Amino acid sequence: MLLDLIPESAQKAGLGALMKGAGKVTRWLPIPQPTLLVGPDASIRLGQSIAGFGHQKLLIVTDKVLVQLGLHRGLTGELAKAGVAFALFDEITPDAPIPLIERGIQCFQENDCDAIVAIGGGSSIDASKAIALAISNPGKRLRQLAGYFKGLHGPVPIYAVPTTAGTGSEVTVAAVVADPERQSKLVIVDTRMVPRMAALDPVLMAGLPPAVTAATGVDALTHAVEAFIGRWASPQTDSLALAAAGMIFKNLPTAYSTGTDLQAREQMALASTFAGMAFTRANVGYVHAIAHQFGGRYHTPHGLANAIVLPHVLRFSAPAIEDRLALLTEKTGKDVAGLSRTQRAQAFLDAVDALLHTLNIPRHLQALRKEDIPSLARAALKEAHTGYPVPRYMTQSQCEALIRSLLPLEAEKPAAAKAKPTKAGAAPKAARKATTKKGAATAAPKRAAAKKAS
Ligand SMILES: NC(=O)c1ccc[n+]([C@@H]2O[C@H](COP(=O)([O-])OP(=O)(O)OC[C@H]3O[C@@H](n4cnc5c(N)ncnc54)[C@H](O)[C@@H]3O)[C@@H](O)[C@H]2O)c1
Ligand SMILES: [Fe+2]
Repeated sequence: MLLDLIPESAQKAGLGALMKGAGKVTRWLPIPQPTLLVGPDASIRLGQSIAGFGHQKLLIVTDKVLVQLGLHRGLTGELAKAGVAFALFDEITPDAPIPLIERGIQCFQENDCDAIVAIGGGSSIDASKAIALAISNPGKRLRQLAGYFKGLHGPVPIYAVPTTAGTGSEVTVAAVVADPERQSKLVIVDTRMVPRMAALDPVLMAGLPPAVTAATGVDALTHAVEAFIGRWASPQTDSLALAAAGMIFKNLPTAYSTGTDLQAREQMALASTFAGMAFTRANVGYVHAIAHQFGGRYHTPHGLANAIVLPHVLRFSAPAIEDRLALLTEKTGKDVAGLSRTQRAQAFLDAVDALLHTLNIPRHLQALRKEDIPSLARAALKEAHTGYPVPRYMTQSQCEALIRSLLPLEAEKPAAAKAKPTKAGAAPKAARKATTKKGAATAAPKRAAAKKAS
């Protein structure tokens, strides 16, 4: 992720040193924190607050699904009541691409707006951040804003209402947008892009479909875990990450099975925010580095990509982080009394597997193609090794083996097995064994639902 932040010329001139410098930016620079309104109808209270801030006109940035569900109405109703003008830009799509952001910029300018309210998941909030920064820096194209503090001027004010509990974008310094021409994602980082105020309103999340609840919830868990096991973890990020992990293990299964449980939704929203605060300071690791490649190449939803990769990277990293995993186990609700450190670390890996099983997360990536594996691994390692404080170094062949274990079962079969008709289920099992024998970097998690889910 951070690789995109450095211009190509600078990359050639010593990326390692640059990235260390970049890391210090998010680790040591004070990061503003938005005023948070939390609880049922928090978005309405946010509307009341914004109405008093004296803006001439607000741009509401959201997507069509959310507008159809009417999730913006509570907030905009308060603006209308107070006589505050606003325009609606509802074109955001998942992983908003550059041309879409450019339309948002145009909409802001045509309507003579002076602030943005983002209502939606990470895609709407990140698009809002990018629009807000581009508006204040009219001389720069979006690609030129990718990187650290590339805008001379800070963005116009941003307010955020997350409708997923996953990215934590309402508290992070980053905006991720898609660059379809280059089949990649751009990351814009600027501490001034953190929204001024955010509303965590569980009522808006009650109708989030179970599969999106699961994937986004595991994205939040991944933020917490990667912030906790990485080398930039600090006492501040540790407490945020541990709190988030505990809340996710306790509430994600309920939010998934009973979406209307507002208490579970609120806890998940808070957990996502805490995990966002942790990782925006301590950064992420190999899970995100690999998942980003799946997002860029196959448009795999960000949370889902993380959820598929997470158990494998944890197993790979485990020898270097036993003590950290053992601490995380205490947040899973498992009884760890009498267990050795190694057993407690293993218990965390098992708890992650069990959670993913409960959430019906697939074990394999249907879109993954064998021939893409070397380049996906190269790109993932380039991203990780130039920006992420990973706890255990991964080689190209280890990364390739890890990604290979995510191949859909059909693609995993050896050529001979493919040619022979076999009983249903027999060939995939044999093929999986063969893949592991060849030296997969991680032991495949034993999740019984594998076949059904993938
Ligand atoms: N800025 C950051 O720090 C950061 C961190 C992680 C991920 N991201 C980025 O965030 C994006 C992903 O965001 P996301 O996972 O929140 O998903 P998303 O914003 O792409 O939304 C996913 C889908 O869920 C729907 N949806 C959202 N809220 C809903 C609700 N309450 N009810 C019904 N449907 C709803 C949306 O319409 C959309 O179709 C990716 O681009 C990723 O790279 C950013
Ligand atoms: Fe993420």
